[in-house]
Amino acid sequence: MAVAGGRIVDVSARAPDGAEEVDARGLWVLPGAVDAHVHSRDPGFPEKEDFGSLTAAAAAGGVTTVVDMPNTLPAVDSAPVFEEKVEIASSKALVDFALWGVARSASTAADVHGLLDAGVVGLKVFLGYTLRRSNRQVIYTTDLSDPDLEPAPGYGTLARLAPELAGRGAPLAVHCEDPDVLRAFARPLHSYADVLRSRPTLAEVIAIDALAAISRETGLEAHVVHLSSAAGLDAARRARASGARLCVETCPQYLLLTEADAERLGGVLKMYPPVRAAADRDALLEGLREGVIDRVATDHAPHTDEEKLGASLEETAPGSPGVETLYLSCLELARRMGDPGLAVRWVCEAPARALRLSARKGALRPGADADLVLVDPNAETRVSAEAMHSRQRHGALEGQRFGFAIRAAWSRGEPVARDGEPVGQPGRGRLVIPSPLTGGG
Ligand code: DOR
Ligand code: ZN
Repeated sequence: MAVAGGRIVDVSARAPDGAEEVDARGLWVLPGAVDAHVHSRDPGFPEKEDFGSLTAAAAAGGVTTVVDMPNTLPAVDSAPVFEEKVEIASSKALVDFALWGVARSASTAADVHGLLDAGVVGLKVFLGYTLRRSNRQVIYTTDLSDPDLEPAPGYGTLARLAPELAGRGAPLAVHCEDPDVLRAFARPLHSYADVLRSRPTLAEVIAIDALAAISRETGLEAHVVHLSSAAGLDAARRARASGARLCVETCPQYLLLTEADAERLGGVLKMYPPVRAAADRDALLEGLREGVIDRVATDHAPHTDEEKLGASLEETAPGSPGVETLYLSCLELARRMGDPGLAVRWVCEAPARALRLSARKGALRPGADADLVLVDPNAETRVSAEAMHSRQRHGALEGQRFGFAIRAAWSRGEPVARDGEPVGQPGRGRLVIPSPLTGGG
């Protein structure tokens, strides 16, 4: 594979004279992964993570593009906030990044088109999460008496904004847990069983059914993120069969873990939606094998040690870091299915295509960015907090063994990781803009 000027120029060539050569004998050369779902916490919560620590972890794990969710502070609800965030990310990022925008209940058509024109990959809706008007922080609360809180976006917000997005060919990603069901089942969290009782799979089903109806009605390309249940998978299957344009994402934690891991992991396993029963895990694996699930992303959601390890289950912040273990976990899962190459589909090709980044990302093709990963298929990696590079090192996949190791990674031809350690200059990472949309803002 020949690389020049940061791009792949040939995939069957001998090195031209004078070229620097990397001997990859015994190793696999794969495209860098595109993690379609991470939470950088930057700007706003540097004690949890920032673009420097996020992308160092990404590079070490062979993720050469991170796509960041908009619940940073202020939430990415307009073009000026987007521009500010791009500037911050560009000053710290080791690998390339793309950004999701947020849809609020108060978002106007002009806000949506402004964000799409600025370069977001699409918009995200946190169903039932409200927003503090004074600082534009996305928060979850059931107490809506505070006048500073904007009404949470619901199906009406989706239905109102869907035609704007559909007209541009841009996706809407939705956190699919129906807020009304969550409110009805809310309870104090004394045990992991309470966590499961408070987030029933019905919440996922109802949200997916509603999203499917909106997609059928408007032509919206809807992304169901972090699918967690067998019942939700069935809803996605029905939605697809009914003509809804649905793209489905799940995460390694839902494919590898079950409620039985709660005893071992404690608050580290707390995340929304939750890791559920073995039957849910098995159904999701089958959905991935069948192709009902398109991609695997991490929902990398770091919090501080105090918020994750030092609190009661009730008080523990939901979310787990995961970007550094995306590639290895998916290679392992794909190998167990009999074809490790499937991992490249789940974490490179599918996300790049769905987010319209495939002109440059997600495949080893002449003309694409030289985002490369060297994988050793004869090594073993055991996930351990000490070896992680996120600011929150304790993740839900702690202790998992994967029969692969990431030996090195390059971003646009430049080294960004070597034997599990990030290398290279923070601030070299750039914004990746999706291919042109239809229509105009
Ligand atoms: O567990 C979660 N953490 N679920 C979400 O939807 C949000 C995320 C976060 O941002 O911490
Ligand atoms: Zn998320």
